[in-house]
Amino acid sequence: MKALVLAGGSGTRLRPITHTSAKQLVPVANKPVLYYALESLAQAGITEVGIVVGDTHAEIESAVGDGSQFGLSVTYLRQEAPLGLAHAVMTAREYLGGDDFVMYLGDNFIVGGIEDLVSRFREERPAAQIMLTKVAEPEQFGVAELDVDGRVVGLEEKPAVPKSDLALVGVYLFTPAVHEAVGELKPSWRGELEITDAIQWLLDRGHRVESTIISGYWKDTGNVTDMLEVNRLVLESLEPEVAGSVDSTSQLIGRVVVEPGAVVRGSRIVGPVVIGSGSEVSASYIGPYTSIARDCRISNSEIEYSIVLPRASISGVRRIEASLIGHDVEVTPAPHTPRAHRLVLGDHSKVQISS
Ligand code: G1P
Repeated sequence: MKALVLAGGSGTRLRPITHTSAKQLVPVANKPVLYYALESLAQAGITEVGIVVGDTHAEIESAVGDGSQFGLSVTYLRQEAPLGLAHAVMTAREYLGGDDFVMYLGDNFIVGGIEDLVSRFREERPAAQIMLTKVAEPEQFGVAELDVDGRVVGLEEKPAVPKSDLALVGVYLFTPAVHEAVGELKPSWRGELEITDAIQWLLDRGHRVESTIISGYWKDTGNVTDMLEVNRLVLESLEPEVAGSVDSTSQLIGRVVVEPGAVVRGSRIVGPVVIGSGSEVSASYIGPYTSIARDCRISNSEIEYSIVLPRASISGVRRIEASLIGHDVEVTPAPHTPRAHRLVLGDHSKVQISS
């Protein structure tokens, strides 16, 4: 069995963060979302992984390399344009050969891994096995309709009027039967070859499609609230470890990870918190559910329930809360006179100012 990991696409939903980096590399607890996918594939006993890449291929390739850091053997497959998930399967046709495969969307995060799902598939080998989860805005997803016995009877991609609140999660298992389905598709209203339509094609022709309903799911729907929430979930199971340096005037409480080369001085850190390597925290308070990436500078500030990306600097600001701060961002207090906010915000930024 092989895996096909999709790491193309443009990531419009998490702008401005994804203006400058691939959506699959957005960090959760200081680790790219894509790494969790690769780890759960390895855990499920899959070693051969094809990664479909697009315009951001260089960034993905430098983050994943040959896959050996995950115990995987990775092959990169270039998709010439983001023409849909089913198109990605076509792109990978030769690589996949006659093997069963799991298709994993690299911007999806599934709490608890996929081991059980994969072993169930290996036993039953339906033409397609899908995961579903309840979502608040089903019109942003593929949506499944189930009958009273819980069998999938219909699937629709981003329907204006969803028939249920059960969204297709971005992990699918297929036998090679899917290749025939994919070959028959016409582009959808958004101009893409939809994997949702391929599964519907299989259903229509009497192939077996199995589903499981899960909880503990996140994707980049542009909803920073959800992203902070998944960050919280992952931080909650953090193993505390201080590899960097913490001076005697600092206080660490609860689950705190201070990565190698990070420095904490005169600060109070209430976990779960992770402080990335090379970051410096001084005279500050870092509150629960905060991830500070590598090479950040935080001084004379207070921040909690937030995600801070690499090389950001925050000084003299209290208090930041429920925020996502991009890489190389600088946050400082404004001079006292005149009393005004001075902003240099990139395209698609969102700010809330309390005044
Ligand atoms: C894709 C699928 C959709 C699925 C979603 C899960 O959507 O088309 O059916 O629910 O992934 O992440 P897209 O990311 O292309 O909007």
